Amino acid sequence: MIGISLGSQNTVVGVLKNSNVEIILSETSSRGVPTVSSFSDRQRYFGDQAISTIKSNFNRSVLYPNRWLGVQPDWPFLKEEAKFCTLQPTVDKHNKVGFEITYKGEQDVYYPEQIMGLFFNKLKQNWKKAGFDTREVVVSVPDYCSAYERKSLADALTIADLHCINLVNESSAIALNYGLFRRTQFEDTKPRIVAFIDMGQSSTTISFGSFTKNSQKVISVTSERFLGAREFDYLLMEHFSNIFKNKYGCNPMNSAKCRLRLIDAIAKTRKILTSNKEASLSVESLMEDEDLNYNLTRDEFEKIISPVLEKFRNLMKSALTNLSNDASKLYY
Ligand SMILES: Nc1ncnc2c1ncn2[C@@H]1O[C@H](COP(=O)(O)OP(=O)(O)OP(=O)(O)O)[C@@H](O)[C@H]1O
Ligand SMILES: [Mg+2]
Repeated sequence: MIGISLGSQNTVVGVLKNSNVEIILSETSSRGVPTVSSFSDRQRYFGDQAISTIKSNFNRSVLYPNRWLGVQPDWPFLKEEAKFCTLQPTVDKHNKVGFEITYKGEQDVYYPEQIMGLFFNKLKQNWKKAGFDTREVVVSVPDYCSAYERKSLADALTIADLHCINLVNESSAIALNYGLFRRTQFEDTKPRIVAFIDMGQSSTTISFGSFTKNSQKVISVTSERFLGAREFDYLLMEHFSNIFKNKYGCNPMNSAKCRLRLIDAIAKTRKILTSNKEASLSVESLMEDEDLNYNLTRDEFEKIISPVLEKFRNLMKSALTNLSNDASKLYY
């Protein structure tokens, strides 16, 4: 059986082999497959191949397709999610949200279930190539996903001709992974309470697990759908676009291609800043043949992203309130 950890940046596929989880590598030998799709005139690309075609095909690329599963036209956050799209979603005559794409000369609306179905199919080809000939999968989903979103994900798996044994909440998967190999460290009756903080590309979940020798359970989960690294990147993109506009009179935010190039550079700089006090940000010929060159310090970075950090602090406070406000219960 195959386990799929579905993320909005990366999807990781694992298989249980001799009591160990073996990760099935992507086409570029990475542990994760980028969750993205891009169509050209004659080809549909997913994962790593899609990444390399997005910039020339941004109006036929669907970024974060998993985030659109189960989305209704009246979803209050539709605009907020669409901010991260290069191809804007549309509502078709059946009142369904989809993406209008011309492929092989035909214009059609592709629903998120179809795009994710094709993406899962691509994953299936990968694991078959690696020698695992199975249709049975378990998929992890963020805890906040509604029944409707789960149904939409199940439909996508069916489109890929996969048999979904179970959809597991991410917090349960994380706690299971923590508890599995530490059972001997836990006490008989006094539970060890552990906090798990999972900040991904687009969302954050804080969960608490309770572990004894004979039991393990998730006791509280607090999530925020719109709190992830892409929020940092978006604020940085707006900030540097403003600087660029003031200096050269043209705004990179107005061009999808420039936005993509800028956000790529920003994500790299952000990663360097996790272990360095400063990092350079540079994009050659960002717009109208002008370059962007900047030396970003960690202090300035934190100032620019402060609204998101504040959101994170508030989420942490709610999580602790949900745990009866007692941080002293936590295991460090
Ligand atoms: N060394 C690093 N330093 C800083 N950020 C990093 C580093 N490595 C990865 N990241 C960031 O982690 C994010 C991806 O995390 P993860 O794989 O948990 O997300 P995801 O599960 O795909 O997203 P989500 O759970 O929100 O759907 C990306 O924003 C990436 O830039
Ligand atoms: Mg994740």
